[in-house]
Amino acid sequence: MNKNIVILGTQWGDEGKGKIVDCITKNASYVVRCQGGHNAGHTLVVNGKKIILHLIPSGLLHNDVIGIIANGVVISPFDLIKEIKMLEAHDIFAKKRLFISNEAPLILKYHIEMDIAREKKLGTRAIGTTGRGIGPAYEDKIARRGLRVKDLQNETKLSMRLEEIVDYYNHQLVSFYKHKSVDYKIILKNLLPAIDVIQDMIQDTTQILHQAIKDNKKIVFEGAQGSFLDIDHGTYPYVTSSNTTIGGIISGTGVGPKHLNCIIGVTKAYSTRVGNGPFPTELFDVIDDHLSKKGHEFGSTTGRKRRTGWLDVVSLCRAIKINSLSSLCITKLDVLDGLDEIKICTSYKNTNTIKNILYPNTINDWKNIIPVYETFPGWKEKTLGIKKLEDLPEQAKNYIKRIEEITKISIDIISTGPERSDMILVKNIFS
Ligand code: IMP
Repeated sequence: MNKNIVILGTQWGDEGKGKIVDCITKNASYVVRCQGGHNAGHTLVVNGKKIILHLIPSGLLHNDVIGIIANGVVISPFDLIKEIKMLEAHDIFAKKRLFISNEAPLILKYHIEMDIAREKKLGTRAIGTTGRGIGPAYEDKIARRGLRVKDLQNETKLSMRLEEIVDYYNHQLVSFYKHKSVDYKIILKNLLPAIDVIQDMIQDTTQILHQAIKDNKKIVFEGAQGSFLDIDHGTYPYVTSSNTTIGGIISGTGVGPKHLNCIIGVTKAYSTRVGNGPFPTELFDVIDDHLSKKGHEFGSTTGRKRRTGWLDVVSLCRAIKINSLSSLCITKLDVLDGLDEIKICTSYKNTNTIKNILYPNTINDWKNIIPVYETFPGWKEKTLGIKKLEDLPEQAKNYIKRIEEITKISIDIISTGPERSDMILVKNIFS
């Protein structure tokens, strides 16, 4: 029985994980965010209303579910409160059933300023970050200088540590980056009322999760970003600063692999990437226009236009390996409706040698590859909202079947539109 389920992105984020988590959590008791921060943007459409979550786990939209923001997540207290209030405006009351880890690192003003200053200095070599301070906050954690949620509980100590850290940051911001400085007194003044709001939510979330496991409760672990934005396995340095692959779920929660019963990888029926970095199947023509407009491919965190491309099955196979995926979920199939032909990339060739290459390792290798495609006939019928596999056009079924053949893994869920109910459950993953 698949008690605990992990949902991970297999591309560069924005695969539509939020909707899948929301759907699966209907049958669960807990939903957990494990890594990343408010750089994530999970868009959900519930009864025609669009809700975008950045930090709060998507499954919290179900009233009886308990949400956890675990130790691996970098938390901006102000953005957390903003999101709690936004949900309250939709009659969703998160406060009483949302717990945040006392060990989670904090994102504060100086992280955001550093993120912005660094990107500016990098110029044409910029990563294209979300500008939310994610990288600097994780750097502080690794450097063992960072403030954590538990540090909010002692005001005197907090004030002292803030003064020290801000001094360190201002030195770099002003002298090296020629950027504006930050004032620790203002940070502290803004932080104090925020602490009052989140105080009761601060917990040892690892303990909560292990109690839930003992009580035989179902838990859904919600990944953020995608496998190729992973700090170790992604297209470095064009990556985020956390482990977006399976390891991030384990270290980010304190729950070990024997309790992760099913690991589902989510992939779009095509590809997108926001921000800079390698993207072998990227399109620049009318197909880009089609995918971009029909798929509403604009970042839910920054509003930037996402780059679009064909499905890259070479990287998908890599994602299956590095995450130990049990099965796949394919999203946004309906966006391909109406195309004359559809392609998938099945291997890479080196531009210079024209030889096949298994997988590029360095940024230079990435620059020197050309994708090799298999082409399929498209379909003219609408797949939007289809709920049964047999109702899909033959061409769409063949497309799905071919992906399963190459990846040697089953596609258990197919999402056919933005609404909660636009979904084909090929297999009941809870059974
Ligand atoms: P950072 O996470 O803000 O440092 O950004 C690093 C890279 O990850 C940039 O290319 C961002 O566009 C990308 N990124 C971060 N979070 C997301 C996400 O949730 N979806 C898609 N891309 C993301």
